[in-house]
Amino acid sequence: MFVCLGNICRSPLAQGIFEDLVRREGLEAHFEAESSGIGAWHVGEKPDVRMRRTAKAHDIDLDGQRAQQLSRYDLKRFDHLYAMDRSVERDMLLLDRSGALHQKVSRFSVHDPDPDTHEVPDPYFEGNFELVYTIVDRTCRSILDMLVQQHNLKRAP
Ligand code: 4NP
Repeated sequence: MFVCLGNICRSPLAQGIFEDLVRREGLEAHFEAESSGIGAWHVGEKPDVRMRRTAKAHDIDLDGQRAQQLSRYDLKRFDHLYAMDRSVERDMLLLDRSGALHQKVSRFSVHDPDPDTHEVPDPYFEGNFELVYTIVDRTCRSILDMLVQQHNLKRAP
């Protein structure tokens, strides 16, 4: 589960890229990816048109996605939940007061092969969609590589 603030920019992109990688590698039987937001402002909406255009320029289609809000139940439902920035990570952890599920939550950028990146910048106000694409793409590849190794999965030839 990829989580950002509004679920219309960063996390839908991560879902779209991750699903595309999984399909290309023939690993669909092993992964179920979704995305969600901390806030409910955009629930039911398509991803931001600027994000959809940027993704489409890289052959990633986000048109079928609709925003949803992260729920407490999602922390149980998913094995790994990735927060796009620190404030999102903090809010995710607050959903599980017992702390029992905290080990499933990590900041997306700790998996970024570029060690200088600590958060995925929010493009909603800043408009840096292409930079976000670059960061999210390389980090999704790194997350998939790690999970494939961890679970000893076989990629399609
Ligand atoms: P996202 O970007 O968290 O990457 O989806 C945002 C989208 C909407 C808002 C903030 C960030 N907003 O304030 O509505």
